[in-house]
Amino acid sequence: MHSKDCVKVAVRVRPFNKRERDAASRCIVSMVSSSITIQEPRDNQSQRSFSFDYAYWSHSGFIRDRNGLYLPEEPGGRYADQDSVFQDLGEGILENALQGYNATLMAYGQTGSGKSYSMVGYGPNKGLVPRLCDRLFQAMRENQDTRQCQIFFSMLEIYNEQVIDLLSRGSRIPGGLRVREEQQRGFYVEGLRTVPCDSAPQVEQLMEQGTRTRTTAATHMNANSSRSHMLIILQLKQIFSKESITKQSNINLVDLAGSERQRSSGSEADRLKEGTAINLSLTTLGNVISALADVAVGKKVVHIPYRYSVLTKLLQSALGGNSRTVMIATLSPADICYEESLSTLRYAERAKRIQNRAVVNESPTERLVKELKAENARLLQRLSRLGHEGRRADDETKELRQLLTHNELQIRAIQTLWEQHLQEALKDWEQQYANITQERRMMQMHPYIVNINEDAQLSGVVKLFIQEGEWDVGLCDSAPGSISIKGLGIQERHAVFRNEQRRVTMTPLAGAKVIVNGNTVSETTEMQHLDRLILGSNCTYLFIGYPSERGGDDWSRYDYDYFQSEVAAAEGIHLGESSAGSRQTDPSLLAVFYDYIKLMPMVAEANQMSQELSKGVDFKLEIKNLALSDSKGHDLEKEIVVRVTSAGNKQVWMWSKTKFVNRKFLMEEVYQQHRAEHSGDDRAAALPRDKDPFWDPVEPLLLGSAHLWLQSLAFRIALEEQLEVLGSEGTEEAILQAQLVPCTSSGVSLGEDDILIDPSEFLGRRLDFQLVLEQCCGLRWIREARNRGVQIGFRLFDCGRPLYTPAAWHNINPLLDHRFHFTSLRTSQRLLAYLQSSAVVLELWGLQEGCTDLTSSMEGVRMTTEGIFIIDEEGPTDAVPEGTADLSCSVSALQQDLEELRSVNASLRKDNQTLREQLNSARNGVESVRGRSVRPSCDAEFARALKVFYHSMTSVRGQLQRLRRHRPSEESDLLGFRRFVYEQSRLLKDFSDLLEQSVSTLKQDVAAIVRRKRERSGVWS
Ligand SMILES: Nc1ncnc2c1ncn2[C@@H]1O[C@H](COP(=O)(O)OP(=O)(O)O)[C@@H](O)[C@H]1O
Ligand SMILES: [Mg+2]
Repeated sequence: MHSKDCVKVAVRVRPFNKRERDAASRCIVSMVSSSITIQEPRDNQSQRSFSFDYAYWSHSGFIRDRNGLYLPEEPGGRYADQDSVFQDLGEGILENALQGYNATLMAYGQTGSGKSYSMVGYGPNKGLVPRLCDRLFQAMRENQDTRQCQIFFSMLEIYNEQVIDLLSRGSRIPGGLRVREEQQRGFYVEGLRTVPCDSAPQVEQLMEQGTRTRTTAATHMNANSSRSHMLIILQLKQIFSKESITKQSNINLVDLAGSERQRSSGSEADRLKEGTAINLSLTTLGNVISALADVAVGKKVVHIPYRYSVLTKLLQSALGGNSRTVMIATLSPADICYEESLSTLRYAERAKRIQNRAVVNESPTERLVKELKAENARLLQRLSRLGHEGRRADDETKELRQLLTHNELQIRAIQTLWEQHLQEALKDWEQQYANITQERRMMQMHPYIVNINEDAQLSGVVKLFIQEGEWDVGLCDSAPGSISIKGLGIQERHAVFRNEQRRVTMTPLAGAKVIVNGNTVSETTEMQHLDRLILGSNCTYLFIGYPSERGGDDWSRYDYDYFQSEVAAAEGIHLGESSAGSRQTDPSLLAVFYDYIKLMPMVAEANQMSQELSKGVDFKLEIKNLALSDSKGHDLEKEIVVRVTSAGNKQVWMWSKTKFVNRKFLMEEVYQQHRAEHSGDDRAAALPRDKDPFWDPVEPLLLGSAHLWLQSLAFRIALEEQLEVLGSEGTEEAILQAQLVPCTSSGVSLGEDDILIDPSEFLGRRLDFQLVLEQCCGLRWIREARNRGVQIGFRLFDCGRPLYTPAAWHNINPLLDHRFHFTSLRTSQRLLAYLQSSAVVLELWGLQEGCTDLTSSMEGVRMTTEGIFIIDEEGPTDAVPEGTADLSCSVSALQQDLEELRSVNASLRKDNQTLREQLNSARNGVESVRGRSVRPSCDAEFARALKVFYHSMTSVRGQLQRLRRHRPSEESDLLGFRRFVYEQSRLLKDFSDLLEQSVSTLKQDVAAIVRRKRERSGVWS
């Protein structure tokens, strides 16, 4: 039997999670029958549609019944529950397997999107795997008369390209199990435990066992489960004795690693390669799928990279081979997950093109039995013939009989192997079952702590009982009177639990990190039912009191997020339902704070690893751009960064979130290796620097920025400023003295007489000015460590690359005295608009010993022969510059302003005309000697007034900026105030808009004065 099957693809959207609800997320996914549409959240016009074999709406329209089962609100409602997903996908897989085809089901999607929910399920909402097993055993019983079924179960994990047997009874093999290849079998895992099964509860117990192994491995080795792939392999053997055929099929059930890490950080490349390190298996799976999708559309593909990763080796038959394959792609419907969801849909779109060639399998072992039986039949025939031929054949008869017995034994061996193994497995199961019953009994008798994991699937797996008496908690291995906990930052003896007279207390031991309900504790603390306990860097447990204290309360709300939010709250960050008004908080800011909470435990772990490996590096979370704005004064997008400081030489690095996450993974790898190699000894892993994830070559660091508003240049007014350079979080980094000087083409400064009233006079004409960076004062960066230096950098208008001053070292108040001369040869409307609405953002860069200075790249920069930077090369155009709606809005407002100024100018010209005539007659024809134009006194007066006006504007802006930075000084609650400051700064922005408006009213008033004056002069003339 031979057929071509496309990989079947299903998509499923889950309900919002708590974070998404708190952030008032919008659902951007919609479904109509089997097609799905995703909306770009920032652009209402842009949406993408995909169609798949199945689309499951599990986002809304459901109820949770008394047992916790999720069901459609009304019968036949659109909500797709676990059962309906199984009806479509699971039954198909089962059918295929029973027919003798290999089958594969895999779940793909970002972490938290519902892969494990669909595959394994939670509590009563059983997923595909347990349902499939149920049905498999049911089918086995139903078909008992026609065939004998044998089912073998194995469960493994691929983490960092290592295969871990989740059912292994022995200790973990360093480096993992080996993947081998055989002609007949293809790739397989050598030495993987396969357990014969004959009932669904037995499989359930095995899965529980596997999950427990995953959980302990994850905490012991400080590994993140979202990076690992979980594979369940069911081998189904069906022996049809009557037809004397055997069908054998492998069912692969795969819960893939979170897809989000597959994408590289994009904007910035890390020195240490990430793609390969982070998840070679997932990247390769993507490449294999792409290649196969290309094959399907007839493109020429030289080779499919199956061999490049462990996962693709093991799934080779599932992808383009002998298997019927289903992929379920899971999505979050929230706007903040748009990028990830879109990338998941694209991935699924490619996967659905893959074509497989599934065939019904015959097992080689069974063929052997068949062959042996046939041989025996032949032997028996010969024997009977020999019997007729008398004594001569005695010897031959003996030989044949021996052969026959040997064959019989072999046949029996093959058939009894299953029975024997099954008996062993059942005994094992009984043992495990006894353990589980014992645990259940203990839960009803004693208080205990239960593990809470970031991955909900691994939560509640480990229960540690606190029976009456005194218990040491720590690494201490199985010493009497101790409870063993392994994990990052856990001491040999970490804390003592005392259970006396039905009261439980916990005493942290010297040096041990212990957090209860978000607060660090060092004293003996009485534990209450449902207290949250964090030991070491991040081992999280929920305390469950005596049964009498347990109400019918729902413990599920105490998930990992709850623990972390509580710690954040203790640091001053309050989010979620407890914080009033969180709904009004900007969702993007909320996303930043969620990032903060998410990274917090990771930073704690990184610090712990740094300490244990004696790396002398400290990590700290910061919010980038919290207090900074762009050249138009708009707030810059805020993001989380990690400040890395090396204790010894005070070197500083700033890592982006992605870089940190990547590096942390590499740190874990180093740490795990170190642990494996030097268990018990504290020597630091000696790593060459170029491979050390804790280290980086030093680079210049952006310390802060200051705004120099350019408006005065449009009127040819000089400006001298003392600017406060502000750090990312609003700290004062330095004072910078800077000047803007309108000048002639040869660099001679222009004076008051050259002030322009109407900037449009510049249109099409040459405009020259200089930016002078004079001195930096009070540099905090240098005050902290003298061996440092600074540079100022900036970008101006269309000068693509940033320009930098030369480096100034070792000086807290360095004299820069650097001058940049710019010219526009034919000034455009665009440049004028820019000057009137923008600031040049002067960036303060910190240099450290060993790093190279920043240099202005001259590539693409045009200069005159005199060394003047040429800007605005396009010349005057009428076209409105492309850009955001925001920009075009402000341009049109400026055009309105210009229009007004033009009319003011026109009336002034009229004024000038009359005044000139009056002057001429008064001076008796004496000509002014000034070169370019005669500037009548009224014009100059008005210009002077304008100068004062624009200068006052600058100080108004300065005042506003200072207001924006204003913050309460209570150190203890700093983080909480950051959020407060953000909200306040939004209010202030509104204030600044108001102010601008009143300034424009002022302009109109001036125009009115001029009009009145003109009327008066009209009277005079
Ligand atoms: N279809 C669904 N219905 C209800 N809850 C869901 C659904 N899918 C996922 N969840 C919930 O979302 C959380 C994350 O799901 P999970 O399957 O663990 O994600 P993943 O395995 O993709 O990381 C879990 O708490 C789970 O209960
Ligand atoms: Mg999962």
